[in-house]
Amino acid sequence: MTKAVLGIVGGSGLYDLPGLEGAEWRTVESPWGQPSDQLRFGRIGATEIVFLPRHGRGHRLSPSGIDYRANIDALKRAGVTDLVSVSAVGSLKQELFPGAFVVVDQFIDRTVARPSSFFGNGCVAHVSMAHPVAPRLVEQIRSAAEAEAIDHHVGGTYVCMEGPQFSSVAESNLYRSWDASVIGMTNMPEAKLAREAEISYATIAMVTDYDCWHPGHAAVSVEAVIQVLGENRDKAQRLVARLARDFPAEHEPCPIGSDRALDHAIMTAPHA
Ligand code: ADE
Repeated sequence: MTKAVLGIVGGSGLYDLPGLEGAEWRTVESPWGQPSDQLRFGRIGATEIVFLPRHGRGHRLSPSGIDYRANIDALKRAGVTDLVSVSAVGSLKQELFPGAFVVVDQFIDRTVARPSSFFGNGCVAHVSMAHPVAPRLVEQIRSAAEAEAIDHHVGGTYVCMEGPQFSSVAESNLYRSWDASVIGMTNMPEAKLAREAEISYATIAMVTDYDCWHPGHAAVSVEAVIQVLGENRDKAQRLVARLARDFPAEHEPCPIGSDRALDHAIMTAPHA
């Protein structure tokens, strides 16, 4: 059994976690760069929590301007073993209406302008991203959502685009033809870097709009995103608080090995 520390990365509209006991903002430095903000340390019940607002307090950083390596490294240094991303997304499926919560289990990475690995020349490693989401975290989110009577969908594919502009109708329809479920701008390379850092990862995707493919709905706008986020913030905070309260203080190794992803990933020979 190993000690568990729950990390939460709050996306658009989620810049703090009310209900954190003993909460304190602390600076955690990273040699990889500047994390999005200070980290918020605290507890909910017996669970140790570390919260990071992905865009910084006041939403200063655009999706391409976030230093994802610094964020994941800072969370690792803070002891985080399990990371839950809470993220606003557009829906690519009729049944995922604005206001829905989706616990995705796959990603398609369409980003083009972000450093996406801790490894490179000098030390080469290839981790598996076949199963990017930790099933145990999905189960914990599912049971927290059930306990809070929050409607949710389990499973689905998140397309991560570079942004910051939203998609064209042709792009949106292309992603629909791939059977993707939701689209956002931030969960990659975050999920890849979490895997390289041997941190288990899952996403609570909060649908704010139908992107721009739906003939019965206006194309996504920031105004619409902010409005739906405002209507759902309470629910998201209740869900995270319940997840945290029920989180075990210790757990067995991750069943899909996300906590030991580097065991067989490094190609470079150790120095003699
Ligand atoms: N975040 C919220 N809605 C989005 C959309 N339609 N596309 C990309 N990111 C989003």
